[in-house]
Amino acid sequence: MPKKIRLGILGGGGDSLIGVLHRVASHINDNYEIVGAVFNPVYEENIGFAKEIDVPTDRIYKDFDAFIEGEMKLPKEERIQVCSVQTPNFLHFPMAKKLLDNGFHVICEKPMTTTLEEAKILQEAHKKAGTIFALTHTYTGYPMVRQMREMIKSGALGKIHKVDARYYQGWINTIIHDKEKRSSVWRLDPEKAGISSCMGDIGVHAFNLVEYTTGLQVKSLLCDFNYLYEDNKMDVDGTVLVRMGDHVKGVIRGSQVATGEENGLAIAIYGEKASFRWEQEKPNFLYKQSDTEPTQVYKPGHAYNSELSLNGTKLPPGHPEGIFDSMANIYLGAARAIRGEQYNDGEFPTMLDGVRGMNFIEATVESHKGGNVWVEMES
Ligand SMILES: NC(=O)c1ccc[n+]([C@@H]2O[C@H](COP(=O)([O-])OP(=O)(O)OC[C@H]3O[C@@H](n4cnc5c(N)ncnc54)[C@H](O)[C@@H]3O)[C@@H](O)[C@H]2O)c1
Repeated sequence: MPKKIRLGILGGGGDSLIGVLHRVASHINDNYEIVGAVFNPVYEENIGFAKEIDVPTDRIYKDFDAFIEGEMKLPKEERIQVCSVQTPNFLHFPMAKKLLDNGFHVICEKPMTTTLEEAKILQEAHKKAGTIFALTHTYTGYPMVRQMREMIKSGALGKIHKVDARYYQGWINTIIHDKEKRSSVWRLDPEKAGISSCMGDIGVHAFNLVEYTTGLQVKSLLCDFNYLYEDNKMDVDGTVLVRMGDHVKGVIRGSQVATGEENGLAIAIYGEKASFRWEQEKPNFLYKQSDTEPTQVYKPGHAYNSELSLNGTKLPPGHPEGIFDSMANIYLGAARAIRGEQYNDGEFPTMLDGVRGMNFIEATVESHKGGNVWVEMES
């Protein structure tokens, strides 16, 4: 067993939503050890949380600048190798940039930055650094999503002609209808979230899944947002028509006010020979449908699955694995890359996915604000 990779964490404190997912995921395949962090901007809470989860406090820094300074003073064989950025969106860019500039590998939450311009600057910094950059579009780690990608690549659907992805949640309902509350959460504050709430937070996952599974790129789009209230600055619902080619079209739908919906990410890809349907809330079932044969259901862990898919399961078929395992698969791919081992390019989303995601988010806003017009994406 090679030595564990020294992992640093930024954000993801005890008060966060996503921190526990990253911490558990980083441990699942025994590749990483958390050796330093800034879990929280309030030092007492930061230290308190480190003690609570038993991370040694000697490398719990008061803030990000102290983190970089402290780590750069250490000999390379002791220094943190990869840092996982789990803060609110506006901190991803400054943190990831400085990490790359100082030679760290980076695992970063989505959306990668708050603007396309920042994303391109980060891309340049990454080229110069030559280190590994993994973007945690968590859902690409599910074995059945990977299976879809591999089967589409090998022609199971024939030529694709229609995509339909949706990411519906309802949680903002509890906030948005109250004037006071809707100005208090960072996801509805453009200074902290970036220019979009719904598309930036969840629509971008659906977009990523469409490009990840089909291997095609969205070329142009037309978007219609709903802000729900005149004083709300951020989209909380949106429908996006997408064109991926002259005869490849579809729709990406996102909502944070889809009452009663929990984490309703779903995708359907239709081709000339067959189609795939997959839902995040039932991630271990991949449906393949055709006009001529009965529906087939693919499940994880069976030998009929692709190597990339099988790589993402740890137990025999019938032992349900879920979101923690999906994130763990991204950490596993990143670990292989960091160690210089061979890996499949479907094992983790990259800098390019981050740039594409920011391009998508900005294009949706431009389309809506321009009067629901078609906007070209960069190729
Ligand atoms: N991949 C996914 O499926 C997924 C799911 C949820 C959230 N996210 C992303 O993860 C990120 C965090 O989301 P969340 O819901 O956990 O947010 P959150 O508000 O629940 O938690 C943010 C954490 O960052 C900490 N933090 C804030 N400022 C900091 C600073 N200057 N230095 C260090 N720590 C700081 C906070 O104390 C908190 O612990 C967002 O970018 C979000 O888009 C991704």
